[in-house]
Amino acid sequence: MFRSLLFAPGDSEKKMLKASNVGADCVILDLEDSVVESRKPIAREMVTEFLKQGGNPEVSYFVRINPLDSGKFLQDLAAVVPAGPAGIVFPKSNGVQEALVIGNYIEVLEVEHGLTTDSVRLLPLVSETPTAIFTMGEYKDGPARMMGLTWGAEDLGAAVGASANLQSNKDWTSPYQMTRALCLFAAHAAKVQAIDTVMADFRDLDRLKVVCNEGRRDGFTGKICIHPAQVEVINEAYSPSSEELNHARAVIKAFAENPEAGTLQIEGKMIDKPHLVLAERVLAFAAELANK
Ligand code: COA
Ligand code: MG
Repeated sequence: MFRSLLFAPGDSEKKMLKASNVGADCVILDLEDSVVESRKPIAREMVTEFLKQGGNPEVSYFVRINPLDSGKFLQDLAAVVPAGPAGIVFPKSNGVQEALVIGNYIEVLEVEHGLTTDSVRLLPLVSETPTAIFTMGEYKDGPARMMGLTWGAEDLGAAVGASANLQSNKDWTSPYQMTRALCLFAAHAAKVQAIDTVMADFRDLDRLKVVCNEGRRDGFTGKICIHPAQVEVINEAYSPSSEELNHARAVIKAFAENPEAGTLQIEGKMIDKPHLVLAERVLAFAAELANK
């Protein structure tokens, strides 16, 4: 599971290197929106070369390819997949059929280049067009390689001509609150990681902390970001706190000691099956972090 996923423009050797050494669980080497048209070919070469050199072994490298209607995604995949990225970020996905198509192309390349089938994971960006909003429930039938779902507000806002996506108090406006919630539930319906979107105002780390805590509260387990300074805040917020770990252990202990009971109480609060599931999830994630 990734807490922090940091974007680095694929045409900047400097940023790809720097992004590798700031504690991000995943670095997304970008071939899409952060690279201008004229630099797409050089970015593709630079990202491929960067992957071949291996980068930081502690980091999982994903590559964001160009979208299906760009006429570039096949060249992107053909160049980068043989270099063995941990995954592909698929932007402007308009439903599960498109994610399946991308998955099939990746599989051909895995077979051709002797990589294990489904070893290259897939992270679709599921909210970047108006059409996409009506497809999110479909991802429960997504490809096995799909490891998460994430969403974006910027392209969607541009597509509908929205003049802003944040309210004056910096909360999302209602169309983006809805989009965020749809992505959250779509990811859980698909049993993959729900990954919250970027906070563009990268200097405001106090606000980032609030947003991360809200995301975690709601069921997101990680967040994409665009600036190295955001990584530490995200990692901290998305790691289980000692209180959460203690509570999770207490829940598991209570059920273990009362194997016949479906419902119990801890300190005057009712707990039942969903609490046990959540406690197990918290401890499994803590164990995963400890093994990193
Ligand atoms: N990855 C790696 N390094 C980054 C970085 C990133 N995403 N964002 C900033 N840095 C580096 C800068 O190069 C600079 O390095 P230096 O101190 O060695 O010169 C340092 O961090 C501080 O950067 P800062 O001056 O605060 O910001 P900036 O003006 O250089 O960059 C952005 C601001 C938004 C252009 C930059 O953060 C960026 O490119 N982000 C990623 C954009 C992207 O990939 N978008 C696509 C997804 S939405
Ligand atoms: Mg975009």
